[in-house]
Amino acid sequence: MATVDQHPIGIVAGSGIELNSILDTISEETPFSSVPELAGGGVEGHAYRFIRGRCGPAEVILQCGRFHAYEGFSFEEVVRPVQVMYEWGVRTIVFTNAAGGLLAPMKPGDLVAIDCIRTWPFKRFDLPESLNTDFIVPGCDFTGVYGWMHGPCYETRAEIRTLQSLGCAAVGMSAGPEVFRCHSLGICAAVISCITNSCVTPQVLTHQHVLETARNSSARLCEQLRAFIGTCQKT
Ligand code: HPA
Repeated sequence: MATVDQHPIGIVAGSGIELNSILDTISEETPFSSVPELAGGGVEGHAYRFIRGRCGPAEVILQCGRFHAYEGFSFEEVVRPVQVMYEWGVRTIVFTNAAGGLLAPMKPGDLVAIDCIRTWPFKRFDLPESLNTDFIVPGCDFTGVYGWMHGPCYETRAEIRTLQSLGCAAVGMSAGPEVFRCHSLGICAAVISCITNSCVTPQVLTHQHVLETARNSSARLCEQLRAFIGTCQKT
């Protein structure tokens, strides 16, 4: 059982994922643009704001939007929101993201609890080749390895085969740098990937499709996060 003591829990909503209904009450909204150290991002499906509120008895800071390597941001810019949440007292973060499914039985809408992130073969940032997450949020359809890619293009068939041979279950373009920064700050990190498309039967994939599928899975993800937050004990 996770322990959150007096610290707010950080939840990061990935592309198209709408988690606002996790908050029973809202006490403060902070657009990224009003935090001096944060860069401005422009990916559709990201609201670029922090929302502070309560989920049951727990204080939550919901981060809507993130920065990606594929937008051209530096490592420090990509991980800056993690640093900001740390400065606000957050010591536990659940990252959510949209991802492609690399296992045959996976279908759009499935949720994957990520236990490890592989960053190879991409090498622009100086990251370890593999990073473990610190805990698993219960209730996902699969548990597995996330292949972090630079993007912005979705993967070629050769890349998909490589990721599968590395044992990856899901592939996407976020979370790797953020989890790495969590480890250096002592933040406990979990990742849930929402499968928006199967990579096993390659399709012409658009950001719009990813956003729409992620949006449709948001209600279930909210319920799951609520249940998880309910198990976090105050110390
Ligand atoms: N690849 C990378 N990122 C993604 C995908 C994918 O197939 N689907 C959603 N985000």
